[in-house]
Amino acid sequence: MTRRRTRTGARTGPRTGAAAALLALALLAGGCTEVGGGVRGLPGAAGLRDPYFPKLGNGGYDVRHYALSLAYDPGTGRLDGTAEITARATQDLSAFNLDLAGLTVAGATVDGAPAAHNRAGDELTLRPREDIRDGAEFKATVTYTGVPEPITDADGSEEGWLRTDDGAVAVGEPEGSMTWFPGNHHPADKAAYDITLTVPAGLEALSNGVRTDRRTERDGRVTTVWHSAEPMASYLATVAIGRYETATETARAPGPTTGSDAGPASLPVLTAADPSVAAGSAALRGEIPEILARQTERFGPYPFSAAGAIVTEDGTLGYALETQTRPVFPAASFDRTTLVHELAHQWFGNSVTPATWRDLWLNEGFATYAEWLYAEEYEGVPARTHFARAFAQDANWAFPPATPPSAENLFDPPVYQRGAMVLHKLRETVGDAAFDEILRGWPAKYRHANASTDDFTAYAESVAGKDLDGLWDVWLYGEGKPAAP
Ligand code: ARG
Ligand code: ZN
Repeated sequence: MTRRRTRTGARTGPRTGAAAALLALALLAGGCTEVGGGVRGLPGAAGLRDPYFPKLGNGGYDVRHYALSLAYDPGTGRLDGTAEITARATQDLSAFNLDLAGLTVAGATVDGAPAAHNRAGDELTLRPREDIRDGAEFKATVTYTGVPEPITDADGSEEGWLRTDDGAVAVGEPEGSMTWFPGNHHPADKAAYDITLTVPAGLEALSNGVRTDRRTERDGRVTTVWHSAEPMASYLATVAIGRYETATETARAPGPTTGSDAGPASLPVLTAADPSVAAGSAALRGEIPEILARQTERFGPYPFSAAGAIVTEDGTLGYALETQTRPVFPAASFDRTTLVHELAHQWFGNSVTPATWRDLWLNEGFATYAEWLYAEEYEGVPARTHFARAFAQDANWAFPPATPPSAENLFDPPVYQRGAMVLHKLRETVGDAAFDEILRGWPAKYRHANASTDDFTAYAESVAGKDLDGLWDVWLYGEGKPAAP
């Protein structure tokens, strides 16, 4: 605590020995470093030292809410945005960073007063006129503009704001969301969102959560407003603009609506599909309420106030993504297995979010195991058949799921398949009853929070009532393939 508050006084000039001693005394006494009425802060860290993406995210504050207002012109590809970020300082702050790739910042304010802003790589630094006190809530506003450029991931996939023939679609796992809005783009900092989209008439503008407004502007453009009340990691934010055919139904929310494990009372299920794939995808889109009801039986209450799916034309998205409440799919991967996978992520990944990118197997292992469970319960293929298939494949043994060798390997088969194998071995070890309790208890315990691999192994052991080191050593952390399944 004293360390982060100790600095050399760059903004106030060199300190005398006596002043420094007084300051040290004040710090020792736990007093704040107030001089001349203002609090003296330090710059927040430029990254959260994620093991794979050290510069992702920023220190010194915790975002509570993003209000993004985006106007998009599909003809020119130009995006005009305002991001209003409500955050709480977690240290005395003289400046803080936001992650933003490309685009031009036109202006910034903090609590209504103009703030100096500076760009260096993907870091945008805001320096408010007055330092922000530890614990204070503040509002930063950034106005920006430009043609967003997608980024190429460590694994070679394109993500971020991706242009289509008639609009755009945005996906961001792990880093792409910084291509379309400034923010604290690490999964550890989840926040509520309101996303307001203004687009030419005739186009849909979809995003996460509940649609709360749709209005025609005086100039004829149409504005749609989306509200995500539950916390969301920024990699799960999405936008889909273009011609889409939509279908809405209000499902009776699956699961309990009262009591300590309550889910939402009713669930708007909104799906959208590119016109070329609307008819072909309608039947499967119609299965979403039933799949969610089945998953609710296994995983507990659905964690969000809305649901749905967005099916895009092939050729734009490099992958399907479990974007919160409304996963997005390239048409070619909109099949039941992938749908089950992305819907399972609403519990595993979206509600319980990895503490760092190293913990990704908690997302992908669970979502893959959810496919195996679904096949076992509704398609007559036992999970052990999937386990045996995965065990036999060499690609799944390249590295242990809990320790991918580099960012490049984050989404490789061991994270998915071997991650699911860990869960199957856990099931065999603790028995079906305890395993079922883990499937419901894990998303309940870390609902709308972040969790690490250590949190999971500790939780599983607490349910099992015993140490499971032997299991983790071999299946979660062990190099290479065990002699026997
Ligand atoms: N989470 C997505 C899934 O459902 C995959 C995201 C892949 N991202 C990437 N950069 N390769 O499996
Ligand atoms: Zn997945």
